[in-house]
Amino acid sequence: MKAHVLGSAAGGGFPQWNCNCPNCDACRKGRKGLRSRTQSSITVSADLENWLLFNASPDILQQIRSFPALQPARALRDTAIRAVLLMDAQIDHTTGLYMLREHRQPLELWCHALVREDLTSGNPLFKVLAHYCGINWQALSLDQAGFGIASVPGLHFTALPLLSNAPPYSPHRDQPQPGDNIGVTITDTATGKRLFYAPGLGQMEPPVWAAMQAADCVLVDGTLWTEDEMIRLGASKKTSRAMGHLPQSGPGGMLEWLEELPRSTRKVLIHINNTNPILDEDSAQRQELTRRGIEVAYDGMELDL
Ligand code: MLT
Ligand code: MN
Ligand code: ZN
Repeated sequence: MKAHVLGSAAGGGFPQWNCNCPNCDACRKGRKGLRSRTQSSITVSADLENWLLFNASPDILQQIRSFPALQPARALRDTAIRAVLLMDAQIDHTTGLYMLREHRQPLELWCHALVREDLTSGNPLFKVLAHYCGINWQALSLDQAGFGIASVPGLHFTALPLLSNAPPYSPHRDQPQPGDNIGVTITDTATGKRLFYAPGLGQMEPPVWAAMQAADCVLVDGTLWTEDEMIRLGASKKTSRAMGHLPQSGPGGMLEWLEELPRSTRKVLIHINNTNPILDEDSAQRQELTRRGIEVAYDGMELDL
């Protein structure tokens, strides 16, 4: 299978339009070692013809242009995106669905019932899109047996609930329920290789840890370096964990967990917030990741498994 990173930044992208934190400022000024990034999305395929889009970012049109495999040009109106799967109902993962409204058929959309609920209430995207292409909703199951997606052959999916948070607009914000946020193991049915993808991971619960240990590659939450990063910058009043993102550094942080994985497991951080010092390739934090054998996803990165 091939996984192509379309967008490696968290909500807001990098640089964020209204942000002048040291990273955004340096990136905007073109300083070497800070590359711009669009908002969170990957696409995956086993046959390199039929692609599953994970999340639909506000930057999706630019992302599709940047990856020609998604436009095979077989007909006047065409796309290689056969279905979309949502990890959660956050703005940065769903707004791109509006940009796909010219689709010729109802969009095949896989998401948990709770995500669908948020997308018909707090943010009524399902209702709005019904006036355009419409949505062909497929209820995403958390059953450990997993599921296949017929339009994207050669892959098997197992979703598991993550303790994170529902979007700020959700009727159950701060009362997370299983299914609000998921992690997904994608298995290539021919090779048995597994990719674990979880761009929003707030807490390392045993089933999540088991899925990470079973994967050949983990592509996981790299939002913030420190628990109080946004607070110290004056950018937010919330801690990393309160936003549903396990920070990298500190006790119980992502680095400690990744350290426990076998050396052979490819470790990649994704969904990186613009304030995170790892975005600066010359930073001490980035050098620490390199020492630990951890990679930082970038737009256009390809993972071959
Ligand atoms: C999050 O995952 O917390 C988001 O990136 C928030 C957002 O989209 O603003
Ligand atoms: Mn996000
Ligand atoms: Zn910034």
